[in-house]
Parts: sequence; structure tokens; C-alpha cells
Amino acid sequence: MTDSFKGKVALVTGAGRGIGRATAVGLAAGGAAVALVARSVDELAETADLVRQQGGSALVVPADLGDDEQLDRATGRVRDEFGAVDILVNNAGVVWPLEPTATVDPATWAVAMKINVVAPVTLTIAFLPGMIDRGWGRVVNVSTGIVANPTGMIGGNAYITTKSALEAHTVNLARELEGTGVTANVYRPGMVDTAMPGWIRAQAPERVGAALHQRFVRSHAEGMLITPEHSAGSLLARLAADDRTGQIWDVSDTA
Ligand SMILES: NC(=O)c1ccc[n+]([C@@H]2O[C@H](COP(=O)([O-])OP(=O)(O)OC[C@H]3O[C@@H](n4cnc5c(N)ncnc54)[C@H](OP(=O)(O)O)[C@@H]3O)[C@@H](O)[C@H]2O)c1
Repeated sequence: MTDSFKGKVALVTGAGRGIGRATAVGLAAGGAAVALVARSVDELAETADLVRQQGGSALVVPADLGDDEQLDRATGRVRDEFGAVDILVNNAGVVWPLEPTATVDPATWAVAMKINVVAPVTLTIAFLPGMIDRGWGRVVNVSTGIVANPTGMIGGNAYITTKSALEAHTVNLARELEGTGVTANVYRPGMVDTAMPGWIRAQAPERVGAALHQRFVRSHAEGMLITPEHSAGSLLARLAADDRTGQIWDVSDTA
């Protein structure tokens, strides 16, 4: 993958840990400068160190994607420091609220929609005009394979709904951008050993549903989770080699 992203500027959300961190480090290894967005400054600083170890340039941009002002400031900061973004990886996401819809707080549900859908769309709108003007750009929106199986995560109504919306947005945008040199694709990362499934395992089974909880505990215990580096490697391989647009890239297609 050496030089695959040479001279490009990338922005990765959720770059503080997990799949986002591994993606950011891989982009740097391929020659990109990388803007790193998440809330946890310490985690972002660790990712920035790893990016610099690859010889890459890193910009730490702490921001809560659920907050309009912070999102706006983050966008401005990336523009000021890096000028433009060529590769946007909307990876940050939340799996909560994970509980019966009858008792969920609608405000919390709406925040999930903001982080998982509105923020990626807002970032895309911010950087899309520049990509179109330059005749080259890549937008990758990180989703989940559960979108293909909407009854597979009972209690995860917000997660299923937001990721389904993100996929619909992506493939529709891809069609709109045909002929511009800018592609928009979805990435489904598989079952990855990160904080996200760890958070589900740490919940009370009666809150998130005993069957769902047991499934996450068992998949972890049986070693079924892949590493963030493995999953990010699949994303990056597609990003480097696949010029098509409107694709649903799934880790299982390249694993
Ligand atoms: N792990 C899996 O098995 C799996 C499976 C399917 C899909 N996915 C998807 O893959 C993506 C990455 O997940 P992961 O497993 O790597 O999760 P993770 O380890 O929990 O990382 C999530 C990242 O997103 C950031 N983030 C969360 N809320 C944010 C907010 N409000 N504003 C800014 N950044 C925020 C987190 O940083 P802060 O908390 O510091 O903000 C962190 O850097 C997600 O979209 C997830 O839905 C994961």
C-alpha cells in the first residue's frame, strides 16, 4: 500500500481508537496527511504519534460530532491547517441506545441520529465542493453488516435505523456524483475487537436483551472478532484500488 495515498489529505472521524485509528495509521503509511477527529484528546494524541511514526503528518481535532458548533469549528480548523480534504472516512459511530424502543429516550435516539448520520453528511457537504472542483475525492461511510439483517439486533433500533440511513445516503450520493471523479462508498467492517462490542458485553443483559448480550459475549469468548488492523486493511485496500462508486464494501469480501 506504500504511496497509495501520497499527497492526499484525509480526514478520519473516530480516529482515537479501534477501526478509525487503524484506518488513520494505514492512510499515513500510504502517504496521506491525516486529520483526526474524536472527543478523547488523549486517544487522538496516541493516534497522532502512530501516524507520525509512519512518517505522516497528523492534525488532532478534538470535537463532539453531536454538537453543531464543535463540528463547525472542526471543519474550519481542518480547512485552515490542511486546506482541503481528498479522502473523508466517516467512521465515528455509536451503538447506543441499546434497549427496548418502548422505553427509549427519544432525545438520546435523536443524538445517535446526529452522530451516525447528520455529522457524516455535514462533513461530506463541507468538503464535497472542493473534491468536485479538483475532480477527485473519496468518501467512505462506515456502516455495519447488520443493515442487511435488520432483525438481527433487536433493541438496537437506533443503530439499525441510523446505519441504514447512512447507507441510503451514500449510494444515492454516489449516483449524484457520477462523472465527477468523486466516489462515495459504504464500508461494513465485520465483527471487530474494539471498545464498541466491549461496551455491549459490559451492559446488564436484562437492559440490552439477554440473547443479544449472550451473542456478543460468546463471539468474543470464541475468538470470532477480527482486529481493527485487519478490518482497516480491507477498507484501505478497497480505497486504494477500487475506483467504482456506490459500492457496499464488506470485510468478508476481502478477508
Ligand atoms: N466493532 C465492530 O464490531 C463494528 C461492527 C460493525 C460496525 N462498526 C462501526 O465501525 C465504526 C467504528 O467503530 P469501532 O468499533 O472502532 O468503535 P470504537 O472503538 O468505540 O471507536 C469509536 C470512535 O468514534 C469516536 N466517537 C464516538 N462518539 C463520538 C462523538 N460524539 N464525536 C466524535 N467522535 C466520536 C470515539 O471517540 P470518543 O469516544 O473519544 O469521541 C472513537 O474514536 C462505527 O461506526 C461502528 O458503528 C463496528
